[in-house]
Amino acid sequence: MTSPLIVVTGATGQLGQTLSRRWSEFPIRQYQFKALDRSELDLNQAEAAIATLAELRPVVIVNAAAYTQVDKAESDSIEVHRVNAEAVGRIAAWSAENDASLIHISTDFVFDGASKTPYEPKQQTNPLGVYGASKLAGERQIQALAKQRSAIIRTSWLYCEYGNNFVKTMLRLMKENDQLSVVDDQCGSPTSTHGLAALIFAMILNRNAAGIYHWTDGGSISWFEFALEIQRQGIQEGLLSKAIPISPIPTSDYPTPARRPAYSVLDRSRTLTDFDCPSADWQAQLNRVLKELASK
Ligand SMILES: NC(=O)c1ccc[n+]([C@@H]2O[C@H](COP(=O)([O-])OP(=O)(O)OC[C@H]3O[C@@H](n4cnc5c(N)ncnc54)[C@H](OP(=O)(O)O)[C@@H]3O)[C@@H](O)[C@H]2O)c1
Repeated sequence: MTSPLIVVTGATGQLGQTLSRRWSEFPIRQYQFKALDRSELDLNQAEAAIATLAELRPVVIVNAAAYTQVDKAESDSIEVHRVNAEAVGRIAAWSAENDASLIHISTDFVFDGASKTPYEPKQQTNPLGVYGASKLAGERQIQALAKQRSAIIRTSWLYCEYGNNFVKTMLRLMKENDQLSVVDDQCGSPTSTHGLAALIFAMILNRNAAGIYHWTDGGSISWFEFALEIQRQGIQEGLLSKAIPISPIPTSDYPTPARRPAYSVLDRSRTLTDFDCPSADWQAQLNRVLKELASK
């Protein structure tokens, strides 16, 4: 008899790469693991994507693929909805019909940022832009079509040693410039894909995960405060040779096509109660990724 299969979409993304590199460390050896890149499963081609699932017959699908370019999304709403909502609905329906579990990743951008306290999973959503609206539509498809067997993990400010992210961009800019200005009036929580991957593996072990969960590395900081810590630890780990002045600026001084929530801290208490997941704080998680970058 062949082992049951876990399929991950978005193999080339930050989370997809992390899941691929880390899965063998977790006690899920009873499963086979297959991460599919866009050429193997394209969310823009839903028919073909479903045919691929029908051929592979996974018992768990982790949907780590998404249209993630938040600013480009503002002028590309048809494709964004096709990838982040319609295709997600098709996968959810296939999962329900074929008794597979679906673990889907969503975002803090489903909220408008008007709250002053951490967002709970059941709190009112109100996305400010096309990307957030498409991710919320994807969540709703899942809840309508595969509620019993699906877990939706909302996360925020993802980074790791792979791909493009704020941490790597800051390290580069800190090397190239004599000073830097960073937005100080958007507050959220950074999340290492390594902690998120550990949560996903914990959910795979406990096949009862269902509903909406929030996951971050904790903390309630601005991008400016995150940049200060990246610089402090970057020097400590030998990734940067010197400190440069970093100034706080308002969002109005750094205009972008998509509006972002001013406050998007997620309340992860239900997730910590329900799963055996890593609760290392965001500074410790950042340190792990910086050490990995320094070792390269
Ligand atoms: N990054 C963040 O700060 C953040 C914050 C909150 C939530 N999230 C969510 O977390 C999840 C993982 O994000 P991430 O940062 O790992 O994303 P990422 O690094 O931007 O990677 C996105 C992945 O999706 C794939 N993809 C895009 N369009 C596709 C399509 N039409 N068909 C198949 N694959 C497609 C990309 O493939 P290519 O390499 O071929 O483009 C890539 O593998 C996403 O659901 C995202 O919405 C991210």
